[in-house]
Amino acid sequence: MKDRVIIFDTTLRDGEQSPGASMSLDGKVKVANQLARLGVDVIEAGFPVSSPTQFDAVSLIAELTKGPIIAGLARAVKKDIDVCVQSLKKAKKSRVHTFLATSDIHLEKKLEKTKSQALKMAVNAVKYAKGFIEDVEFSAEDASRTNRDFLFEIIEAVVDAGANVVNIPDTVGYTTPDEYGGLIKDIMRKVRNINKTTISVHCHNDLGLGSANSLAAVVNGARQVECTVNGIGERAGNTSLEEVVMILKTRQDIYPFSTGIKTKEIYKTSKLISIVSGISVQPNKAIVGINAFAHESGIHQDGVLKERTTYEIITPESVGFEKSRIVLGRHSGRHGFKSRIKALGIELKDSQFDKAYERFIKLADKKKEIFDEDLEVIVEDEITVTSETYVLEYFNIVSGNKTIPTAPVSLKKGKQVFQEAACGDGPVDAAYKAINKITKLKAKLVDYSLQAVTGGTDALGEVHVKVAVGNRTAVGMGASTDIIEASVKAYVNAVNRLLAKRKKA
Ligand code: KIV
Ligand code: ZN
Repeated sequence: MKDRVIIFDTTLRDGEQSPGASMSLDGKVKVANQLARLGVDVIEAGFPVSSPTQFDAVSLIAELTKGPIIAGLARAVKKDIDVCVQSLKKAKKSRVHTFLATSDIHLEKKLEKTKSQALKMAVNAVKYAKGFIEDVEFSAEDASRTNRDFLFEIIEAVVDAGANVVNIPDTVGYTTPDEYGGLIKDIMRKVRNINKTTISVHCHNDLGLGSANSLAAVVNGARQVECTVNGIGERAGNTSLEEVVMILKTRQDIYPFSTGIKTKEIYKTSKLISIVSGISVQPNKAIVGINAFAHESGIHQDGVLKERTTYEIITPESVGFEKSRIVLGRHSGRHGFKSRIKALGIELKDSQFDKAYERFIKLADKKKEIFDEDLEVIVEDEITVTSETYVLEYFNIVSGNKTIPTAPVSLKKGKQVFQEAACGDGPVDAAYKAINKITKLKAKLVDYSLQAVTGGTDALGEVHVKVAVGNRTAVGMGASTDIIEASVKAYVNAVNRLLAKRKKA
């Protein structure tokens, strides 16, 4: 039997801490259910004490998502642990993940605690959590920059206190494979009671080494990898789940370890998370980027046609990257639409489905062929909509080379309808100013990009924007065959995400 590596997914916790990310409650449950289908062992569903919405998300996932262990994050204090335990009440299998910084810099500058105070806090937190839930994980935040002797001491103490899993995070993405592998090796050798626990690793990607560091740790004895789908997370993100899993699967000669991941679910999961979080996947991202299996140069195409393995080390099918040959059109009907959406791994509630179908029909009137990429864009809005959301009713544009661009815009929120008009430097600017008047947010456009989703002059244009209010930012996406409409939708989407973030904060 090969050594099993436990996959601990923290997309809904550390991943949600990505700058610009914001996931609705409904979106989070969808992601959790898909992570269960993907076969992750542990889902870290959130940080319950941090806000009521986080608490609700962890509670709902604990109730509805079956299969994996559901974990909640808690600082090493009673209040956090109490709230965390409460949120996990309905889970079949639950874990309290409690953490405390252990490096000198964090202890002195952030926590203002001595090492012995920290040691006591960690032990007390683990013992306290054990009083409620059997499965307790302790993380020594900033472990990779922690004094080694102190790290060994605190690991030994929390294991004695009952920690089932001890996590050694590289919180700031500073370590390297040799150094981190060496650290894990030393922990395995020097900590007296190490065989009573599982060593976990949690790497950030500030130097682009998240996956490499995690694998070096596995080779040296770690048996749990904490990661996120698409590698999203604080700053440059976390170790990417799909990279670690596919490296283990592809290079069994070097890494003779197994995971419980059903790799064919990877691409679907990646798509869903990019839709729900609003963070698109870079085209050249390993495993899940749209170019990951694209061969552009003539020499490469020729090689692949003659023998696939000349330029392909894994098959697109093995990660569920199957291009549909089914192209929908206006005659496809509800059934065709429904089955294609299902095949893409997207679940919609009846009301969401009806709205998405309406949009599909409208699009099919304008565009002969509807590709999978079009469908993903159509359902994105329906998934991210919440009751707090502004929905675009209509807009009108007056523009020309001898007119001041002007835009009346109407937005609906619940049953209320708002209308405003504004002038601007261009039609998009005018519409954005009108939206700001309605929402009363002094939102600034920080970034704007437009791309065609599919080919041809009737292509669906996809607009991505980043907006900021003070130092809070959010991204938004909108799509339409009309690029002004796509721009307006993207802005409304970003504003909704900003409002959700503000509420959460
Ligand atoms: O990066 C980190 O140290 C964390 C801990 C809370 C595990 O996210
Ligand atoms: Zn982290």
